[in-house]
Amino acid sequence: MEKQEVKLFTREELKNRSSREECILIIHNEVYDVTKFLEEHPGGLEVLMELAGMDASEPFEDVSHSSDARSLMKKYKIGELVEADRTQGKAAYAPQWNNDQPQEQGNWSSWALPLLLGIAATVLYRVLFL
Ligand code: HEM
Repeated sequence: MEKQEVKLFTREELKNRSSREECILIIHNEVYDVTKFLEEHPGGLEVLMELAGMDASEPFEDVSHSSDARSLMKKYKIGELVEADRTQGKAAYAPQWNNDQPQEQGNWSSWALPLLLGIAATVLYRVLFL
């Protein structure tokens, strides 16, 4: 076989297809049918069923699955998402580390005001008392 055909799915179609009898997950733009894996999943079948038809990339990474788990996944891959439905960029393949949290204040405003107050106090002290 020269080139393996990859079956493409849309997010919409997966949302409608998944049911109690069929558990399909999207993880990093790839589509997995874990129906036969539900009973074997060490993390339990409930977590997988709750995510049926949805993008499970984040919850999957939150658990820090082992490399064994990652190679096991391949067995259940049934295809990929169509180009238009893919999450773009590297972030899709890496855990998201609180990107939406406010950044640590590292700019000048955090130290300039105390510094100015210090200088003003020193000048005032010299003018008044020396
Ligand atoms: C095809 C997809 C998946 C496969 C093949 C898989 C496989 C595994 C395997 C082999 C483990 C044992 C620990 C390890 O080796 O890392 C595990 C643990 C676990 N999985 Fe998954 N998993 C999948 C998807 C998910 C998803 C989407 C969730 C959603 C939250 C999840 C939640 C968990 C949890 C909570 C554990 C921890 C169990 C514990 O440590 O007590 N898994 N999984």
